[in-house]
Amino acid sequence: METLQGMKRTHHCGVLRKTDVGQEVVLCGWVSRRRDHGGLIFVDMRDRSGFVQVVFDEAAMNEGTFHKAESLRNEFCIAVRGKIRARSEETINPNIETGEIEVVCAELRILNPSKTPPFYIQDGVDVDEMVRLKYRYLDLRRPEMQKNIILRHRVTKIMRDFFDRNGFLEIETPMLCKSTPEGARDFLVPSRVNPGEFYALPQSPQIFKQILQVAGFEKYFQIVRCFRDEDLRADRQPEFTQLDIEMSFMDQDDILTLMEEMIKELFKKAIGADVPTPFERMEWDTAMDKYGSDKPDLRFDMPLMDISEYVKGSSFKVFNSVIENGGMVKCIKVDGYADIPRRRLDDLVKFVQVYGAKGLAWIQYTEEGIKSPFKKFYEDETFAKIAEATGAKTGDLLLVVADKRLVVDTALGQLRLEMGKERGLIDPDKLRFLWVVDFPMYEWSDEEHRFKAMHHPFTAPRDEDIDLLNTDRMGDVKAKAYDMVLNGVEIGGGSLRIYNADLQEKVFESLGLTPEQAHTKFGFMMDAFQYGTPPHGGLAFGLDRLVMLMAKRPSIRDVIAFPKTQSARDVMSNAPSPVDEKQLRELSIRTAVKKKEKKEN
Ligand code: AMO
Ligand code: AMP
Repeated sequence: METLQGMKRTHHCGVLRKTDVGQEVVLCGWVSRRRDHGGLIFVDMRDRSGFVQVVFDEAAMNEGTFHKAESLRNEFCIAVRGKIRARSEETINPNIETGEIEVVCAELRILNPSKTPPFYIQDGVDVDEMVRLKYRYLDLRRPEMQKNIILRHRVTKIMRDFFDRNGFLEIETPMLCKSTPEGARDFLVPSRVNPGEFYALPQSPQIFKQILQVAGFEKYFQIVRCFRDEDLRADRQPEFTQLDIEMSFMDQDDILTLMEEMIKELFKKAIGADVPTPFERMEWDTAMDKYGSDKPDLRFDMPLMDISEYVKGSSFKVFNSVIENGGMVKCIKVDGYADIPRRRLDDLVKFVQVYGAKGLAWIQYTEEGIKSPFKKFYEDETFAKIAEATGAKTGDLLLVVADKRLVVDTALGQLRLEMGKERGLIDPDKLRFLWVVDFPMYEWSDEEHRFKAMHHPFTAPRDEDIDLLNTDRMGDVKAKAYDMVLNGVEIGGGSLRIYNADLQEKVFESLGLTPEQAHTKFGFMMDAFQYGTPPHGGLAFGLDRLVMLMAKRPSIRDVIAFPKTQSARDVMSNAPSPVDEKQLRELSIRTAVKKKEKKEN
């Protein structure tokens, strides 16, 4: 092993160009690939800026150096001094940015050898993600991962600059706090000095950022880690990062407009994409009714259509009983897919059942006529009317679900996405932003038999709906809440807040909190609200999701340096893990799991 002593890096590998020919350079990096041609050895040398080819020519260098080059293997960490030379016409590699030149090595130092890596360090290789996560330091050496992490850095830099320029202050809020109610489970941290008591890690800085408004900071932002103990998916991690924002004296329009400006600047500066503003604004009711989702992917159309009026009052029991019981029959039209294989239709029946639908029906408008499981229950005229209402032509397919509104919308909304993918209707290069506005204030929880806040309990109800609080029409109350959606992903959400203690109390009551419970949980906030609280509002973006979409990756794990697996584990460091008895004793904690194991042994 050698050191760098006396050798000073002059350049990064990936930046060298034809204009550098003739220069002497010193490079540091890793061996990405070595090709041995007898008296000539070629090494693709890599650092975070990219690759360059280094040539070791036996005839032109001392024997010791050449011998050393022969010992190089993938992922050795090396330093090279050499001269840039133009490649001959036939050896130019147009696929890499440094493909017109190469470095002729004069001096080689092996700074550290490497074991043979468990997978090739290159893009597009098919490696099990568990292996990638276990050897994350190698996975992160892959150029595409380096690009994602570098992009993430650029994104946060641009955000900070934008907010600074617009008069916002980045203010830190505590990580050890009282539980904040964003609807997920808390991660708890035991307090050693207060035995039996726990902090919660923040699900978001919601209350603190509102209190910063009471404190007069007016414009706050923070790029902040949040913790939620919920079931994980491709776009959910137990710890994730928010761009969190709150401001005073601004109305909803001011906030949405400013955020559009931020997003426009961000996409332009970070990935060179032009984002047209203002974004479309769609009421929540419309989004659900038309696209069966509160985060519709508008890169393709295929709206949900209500055909109840055409199919009601027939002898077909399935539709009749649904409609009589206040439900509805809706469909989507899949153009040119009347020849869908029967087997695929059977799959789709199972597909919608996952979303609570009891069944799926269809109408195939084929050259040979109508094919449908409910054909015998209706006249030809009915199918003609449905065709007219939906715009279905010969060759088109209608997929039909009958049920309660929410079930129909959810199932068809998901089916719409499935068909969009299957029929190739989704342009992966399109960026389709929208605001979903006028969310319901509450959603009914079947589990708990009560209304829960759809956003969080600090969201202001629409002024005209305040009288409906704590009445049997609570379900109709709309909130001053908004979500930003990009390509069917919820990338951010927020609201105007309640800033009046009486109204806040009323809303707590509507959520089933007694005044005592409200006081125990949020007393400090209610107190703060007694001291001249300004009208305020804000929102938070999911940074991981934003960067995932910018990098066109399928999972946020690809844009987080050290993510957790689906089962919330860090397989590199092996967390979570058991701790010493002594540590637990200090914290006045005993775990039920430990006890059980002991009994079994
Ligand atoms: P919300 O709960 O909607 O709002 O969160 C804001 C945004 O954070 C992202 N997000 C997540 N990303 C990755 N993994 C997760 N587990 C996860 N959960 C949420 C989403 C989401 O849109 N305090 C409010 C904001 C406000 O009202 O100002 C809040 O946290 O992209
Ligand atoms: P059944 O009488 O239950 O066999 O249903 C007859 C046909 O109606 C089935 O083949 C399905 O295509 C369709 N069907 C049943 N339930 C539903 C539903 N909830 N929504 C749409 N179609 C349904």
